[in-house]
Parts: sequence; C-alpha cells; structure tokens
Amino acid sequence: MSLGRALAVGLVGLSAEIVEVEAHLGKGVPALFLVGLPDAALGEARERVRGALEACGLELPKQRTVVNLSPADLRKNGSGFDLAIAVALMCAENADGAWRARRAVHIGELGLDGRVRPVRGVLPMVVAAVAAGHRDVVVSAANEREAALVPGAHVHAIEHLSEILRVYGVEVGEGIEWEPLALPDQLGSTESTEDLADVIGQPEARRALEVAAAGGHHLLMMGPPGAGKTMLARRLPTLLPDLSDPDAVQVTSIHSIAGRFAPDGGLIRRPPFEAPHHTASRAAIVGGGSGVPMPGSVSIAHRGVLFLDEAPEFPAAVLETLRQPLEGGEIHLHRATASARYPARFQMILAANPCPCGGAKCRCAPMDVRRYRTKLSGPLVDRVDIRIHVPRVTRAMRALDERHEGSIAVAARVAEARARAAARFAELPWSVNGDAPGSWLRRALVGEVRAPLERAVDEGRLSMRGVDRVLRVAWSIADLRGDDALTIGAVGEALSLRGGEGDA
Ligand SMILES: Nc1ncnc2c1ncn2[C@@H]1O[C@H](COP(=O)(O)OP(=O)(O)O)[C@@H](O)[C@H]1O
Ligand SMILES: [Mg+2]
Ligand SMILES: [Zn+2]
Repeated sequence: MSLGRALAVGLVGLSAEIVEVEAHLGKGVPALFLVGLPDAALGEARERVRGALEACGLELPKQRTVVNLSPADLRKNGSGFDLAIAVALMCAENADGAWRARRAVHIGELGLDGRVRPVRGVLPMVVAAVAAGHRDVVVSAANEREAALVPGAHVHAIEHLSEILRVYGVEVGEGIEWEPLALPDQLGSTESTEDLADVIGQPEARRALEVAAAGGHHLLMMGPPGAGKTMLARRLPTLLPDLSDPDAVQVTSIHSIAGRFAPDGGLIRRPPFEAPHHTASRAAIVGGGSGVPMPGSVSIAHRGVLFLDEAPEFPAAVLETLRQPLEGGEIHLHRATASARYPARFQMILAANPCPCGGAKCRCAPMDVRRYRTKLSGPLVDRVDIRIHVPRVTRAMRALDERHEGSIAVAARVAEARARAAARFAELPWSVNGDAPGSWLRRALVGEVRAPLERAVDEGRLSMRGVDRVLRVAWSIADLRGDDALTIGAVGEALSLRGGEGDA
C-alpha cells in the first residue's frame, strides 16, 4: 500500500480550516472513493481530477484508491479541493518531491484540460493557512494577486496541473499545451467617485448624513421621487473613515467569497456601499444558496452602508430577517446541508416615497398609503435613529444655495466626532453613539436637557424608545460640536432630525 498527502483549505462562512487530503492506494478492484463528507461538487471532483490527470499524460492509479479528507466533521464544499486531491493521488506513487506536497497548501479547481481555475474565498483561505503555519500556498494564476495580499504567504501560482506535478517530481507527459487562463473580470473599484459637493441644496439632508456618519446611525429618508434620496445615500460612505486593518481583511474576505472582489487595488479599505433591489431574492439579500450558504448583501455591506431604496417595496419577510444582523452584527444561515455565519454590521439607509405612487398628484387610496407606511414601522424602523423628509429642490432653493461643501471637509469633522465618541466609550463594548444602549443613555441623562425630554414624554409627544433615539443623535451632534456634554441645543436639533414621523 502507498500513501500520498497534500494540504487544502476548507471554508465554512468566514472560518477556514486546514484540510488534509490523503490518498491510500491498496489492493482491490481499481476504483476511486472520496470520503470525508463530500458534497455534490466534491463528487464531481473525481471526474475533473481524472480528466486533468489524463491531460498531463497520467492516469488514476490502477488500484483501489481511497481519498480521505479530514477532519471528517468539517463541512467541505466547492471545487477548491481538486488540486490537492490530484497532487495527493500522484504523490502517492513515491514522487521525489512528495514531502513538499505534504507541507504546501493547494487551492484550486481543475478543468478537464488540466488547467487550474480560480476559486472564491482565496483570501480567507490563505489567511488561515499562514496562521496555521503553512506559508507555501499553491493557487491558480488567476488567484495569485489575491493570495499575495496575505502577509507572510509564499505564493506559487500555476496555470496548469502539470506545472506543480513537475515541481513535486512527478513525470508528466511531454509537450503539454494549454490556452492561457482568462483573467478574472475587472469588477471596478469599490472606491466611490461620488462627492457630497455634487448635492445642490438640501442642507437638512446633508446635515442628517453628517450626523448619521458621526454616530453610525441608521437613517430613513422620506420624500418624493427625484428629491435626491438615492444621490444622498450613495454619498454616505464618502463621509466614513477608512476601515481598520482587521476590518479590511474581514470585509475583503467576505467580498472574495461572494465573488465580488478584484484584488488589483489591494485590500478593500473603504466602507462598502451595497444597494440590493427590492426584487432581489432573499438569498441575495441576506445570504444563502445551495451547499454552504454564500454571503448576501447584508454581509457585503459589512462595515459599510446597506441602502434599501424604496424600502416599503421589500417583502416583509426580508425586512424581518434584517433584525438579526441589526441586533447582533452577524447573520446565521441555517440550511439542511450546511450552516454558516457571516458578519453583517452595517449602517442602514432606508428611502421611501410618501405613498405607493410617489406622491406628486397622489391618487392612492388612504388604505394603500397606510399599508405602505406601516411597512416602515415596527422593530426594523425602531432601530433607525434619524428620520428626515427630503423635499424636491426648487429653483429658489438652488439659487439660495452657495455652499457646496465637499465630502473631504465633512469627513474630517466626522472623524473628529468619532474619535471623541470612541474616547468616551473607551471602557465600554461599543464605540459609536448609534450602538449605545438605552441604559447607558438614560444614566447619562443629567442637567439641563432632562426637563424638556421629560416634558415631551409626559405630554405623549415622545416614547421612551423615542427618548433613547433622540439622546443617541444628540450625542453625535455634541461630538460634532466638540462638546463633552449634551446641551439643549443638541437635543433640540436631535428632535428635529426625527422628521415628525410620529413617535414610533
Ligand atoms: N439636490 C440635488 N442636487 C443635484 N442633483 C439632484 C438633487 N436632487 C436630485 N438630483 C438629480 O435628480 C436625479 C434624481 O435623484 P435621485 O437621487 O434618484 O432621487 P430619488 O432617489 O429621491 O428619487 C438624480 O439624477 C440627481 O442627479
Ligand atoms: Mg431613488
Ligand atoms: Zn400616491
């Protein structure tokens, strides 16, 4: 009996684990068995590996062969194990370089022609490999730049299986030729080219964006079509600070798994902006799909902005699912086949028209308007601290406007305000006002600002939840002003950023 070994990486959600691939060649009828919880894609691996080896002038061992992937309890999916399986099979035949194959991590799908294809999620896989002490990683040339983003990784990029087999001392056929791999699609940079300076007028909405950016507050914008809601929402990321190093790796990993990352510009450093359409599938929005669930928009928006345009048009079930990430910052996707969890801590912007038709010359039945608006109440909207009306810009307003402050200037104020909040919360488990719990807010509620809020509650103009929201926003206003305490002015402005959307 002979034994071949190679390493691969299994990925479930964002957690990656080293997988050892062992090929046992023993007595018996020639056949190839794959064991260790393979899913459908892994079953197909057998055919791809056979084809790829033939393309190298090789064939499957003429013995009873068992390929075992361990740990057995790790849910393995996808086609990224092909390369390691082929290497383990060939190195079982006493190749000189077999010891090297046992130490290197192999990540790649094989084509029937032997080409090594890129896979998704290479970044978190290589991060895990290096963390586990395996610096040598073999990947498809199309994944090279992504793998190379991981500090400490020794990336060996190949186009064809025969290249790595030669390295390991396996004798492959002569004159193997292949078409060069098509490079992955340019996905364009996630860097926004938008700027707040593009927005004419709308002083209140600009201010709301600034306060929302300072405190990480969720925001609801209500207004007629064409008022500029979408335009404003797209500019929130331009006001937010760069991602920290760990966040950049995590965000980039999610985008890599989702197949939404082009590594040319390095790690994703800017907060993402994700705007799923209301007709998008639930799996696209919250995550899912067959096999190990894929991340959805809520995770792609992690550490960035999730924009739900025409929010009342989203299915109630989808809106309902957003509660989990809004509360816990992550989403658990349970499937019969496998479960995964992905981070999903985003800043949410909801936009809505005043009624289903858009409102200019509204002919909606009062019932329909009510139903439409009810979609924007309840637990989801409870978490939205800032609610504003965005009117259409009139000619008069345009003429009045002289100040077109750009994103850089606003982002600088936001950064200062965030630093002030982070210092205040240094010993606490949150760092932005939008995450401050009611208990903390109310304990800190002392001095001149207490009376007016109490009066509003007594008179039924404000609920206790409403008080919490006003306080959160007031702290962000104070941070922007450079104040160390809440003032009547800050609370007054916070009250005005609730847009008179009732008190819900
Ligand atoms: N305040 C504004 N400044 C500059 N352009 C605006 C403004 N408001 C709207 N527009 C323009 O009008 C169009 C519609 O705006 P949009 O953001 O899609 O509105 P909404 O999302 O409220 O329907 C956009 O193409 C945008 O360029
Ligand atoms: Mg719009
Ligand atoms: Zn209407």
